[in-house]
Amino acid sequence: MNKLQITLAVIKPHVVKNLFALESIQKRIECEFEVVGIREVVISREMAERFYAEHRSKFFYNRLLSFITSGPSVALILAAENAVSKWRQIMGPTKVYKTIYSEPDTIRGQFGLSDTRNACHGSDAMESALNEINVFFPDFDFEEWRKNHPTL
Ligand code: PPS
Repeated sequence: MNKLQITLAVIKPHVVKNLFALESIQKRIECEFEVVGIREVVISREMAERFYAEHRSKFFYNRLLSFITSGPSVALILAAENAVSKWRQIMGPTKVYKTIYSEPDTIRGQFGLSDTRNACHGSDAMESALNEINVFFPDFDFEEWRKNHPTL
């Protein structure tokens, strides 16, 4: 069943530096989603630790944190029917070395450089979206927003 959802998208630092890539992604987003919130932010170590808490035990954790805190990122709250899976489909899979061959038209297929510099992030479920949105948009009131979007 289709339902209205929100998700968190993060455009990662190497893409934010690339004006062509950033504009191309923004156009794609505007065609497919309502942009509920947008913010350019240099992610602090503390924010990154909250954002990537589930990966704390992974071998790549420090690499992930160093990269995501290395320069400005753009965080967006996106709304659409089935926004979580829709955004993940447009992004393409995490593993860029496969994606550039199997799904070259996805954002990661076009602008991903490695598993760390994979161009963008997307929440994997509504519950994680709400937690992640809170890291970037602490003033966003989901219940208030939902009142005006009764199909959710
Ligand atoms: S995993 O292994 O299933 O947890 O990975 P995944 O959920 O696909 O990816 C989660 C984030 O971890 C980053 N990642 C890596 N960074 C560095 N090195 C390696 N090998 C690596 N594998 C995954 C990846 O960029 C994902 O970040 P986000 O921001 O979610 O895209």
